[in-house]
Amino acid sequence: MSKLALLGGKPVSVTNVNKVSWPPISEKTGDKLKELYLSRKWSFNSPSEQEFEKAYAKYHGAKHGVFMVNGTVTLECGLLALGVGKGDEVIIPALTWIATATAVKDVGAKPVFVDIEPTTLCMDPVKFEKAITPKTKAVIPVHLYGSMADLDKIIKIAKKRKIGIIEDCAHMQGGVWKGRGAGSWGDVGSFSFQQSKTVSAGESGICLTNDDKLADRLFRAKHIGYPNGVAQGAAKSGPPQDLRCHNYRGTAFQALILADQVKGLKKLISTYNRSAAAIEKTVAGLKGVRVQTRGRMASPQGYYAFVLIFDSAPMKDIPLSNIIAALTAEGLGCGGTYGTVYKHLLFNMKKNEYRIDGGSCPVAEDIGTLRSVCITHQHLGNDMAAIKKICTIISKVVENHEELINYKPKSKKL
Ligand SMILES: Cc1ncc(COP(=O)(O)O)c(C=O)c1O
Repeated sequence: MSKLALLGGKPVSVTNVNKVSWPPISEKTGDKLKELYLSRKWSFNSPSEQEFEKAYAKYHGAKHGVFMVNGTVTLECGLLALGVGKGDEVIIPALTWIATATAVKDVGAKPVFVDIEPTTLCMDPVKFEKAITPKTKAVIPVHLYGSMADLDKIIKIAKKRKIGIIEDCAHMQGGVWKGRGAGSWGDVGSFSFQQSKTVSAGESGICLTNDDKLADRLFRAKHIGYPNGVAQGAAKSGPPQDLRCHNYRGTAFQALILADQVKGLKKLISTYNRSAAAIEKTVAGLKGVRVQTRGRMASPQGYYAFVLIFDSAPMKDIPLSNIIAALTAEGLGCGGTYGTVYKHLLFNMKKNEYRIDGGSCPVAEDIGTLRSVCITHQHLGNDMAAIKKICTIISKVVENHEELINYKPKSKKL
């Protein structure tokens, strides 16, 4: 194939191949938002919130949905509902967004980082079991980017050791494990609907659960102690003494936007799976690159991002920044992963406030951080002509890898 665009060759696509704008908008939703505005029913467990909670829980096979202000406090409320607090440990994967750890700290507990699997990039169940101590009160498997954590193994271990399970599904809207939705397998499933997510209202989140008692605790934790189903000021019972409660309510506007998006979620996820399958097929024929393995029993697989892993010869010796620059120059805008939480610029816990089981997480630090490239989920929403271009770009960069070994980016003038 011709010379790389990064080095002056002709790009596969002059503009970014992605033509999908995000989040999606529609006139119909806009009209409904105006109607909602005029109704003045903007919060306080409004009909729009209840409608969305029901629809989202049903889609994912859960009995209850509790709508909240974002996907960090959903984790926090999940922990509060399970009674996690000071002196407890919560096991989380080393590769995730910092919020997974922050939520643990916010309830006064200690996050314990464990390594990931090199295939799924999700929590390694063996490492999880090894990290359990008498202080372990909960585990948060994260379904990361384009894979689901091994729920069968993690749930089996957690149940045997009487450890609570919160699935962090911020990346897994619409994902299905063995016929039932993400977030309905653990005690609590936590989702984020922030601006970039597959289902998005700019901000907000939801907790799913099948347990009536947990549903009550989740609702009270986010609604200053009120139980579900009573009007503001009409509560007949207060929250349990051990439950710290907040105002973590989302708004009816967000719920309305989300309820409309859920109607198209099945189609969206099916398109993403079609595109992912085509890229996987191309990558299978290339040397030095592989894809993040889908969740072992995930079908369809949800996607927040599609991950390429460059960890074998001849690609493993090429700096990741050069690979990203080459893909981007050809028209495939992409970036790295979050990297390990405990090395993230925004991670601000003191050494005694967290624990890295075994002292380090080599797979997350190497493959998860230095060898992996994320392509946004919006790319997967493009038509097959664009997906073919993505395949051509990946093939071109891999086939011309020698041009990249000694590439040094020009320093930018200030
Ligand atoms: C894995 C993961 N967990 C939790 C969160 C937190 O969600 P929010 O930004 O809605 O607070 C995010 C957000 O990016 C995330 O990616």
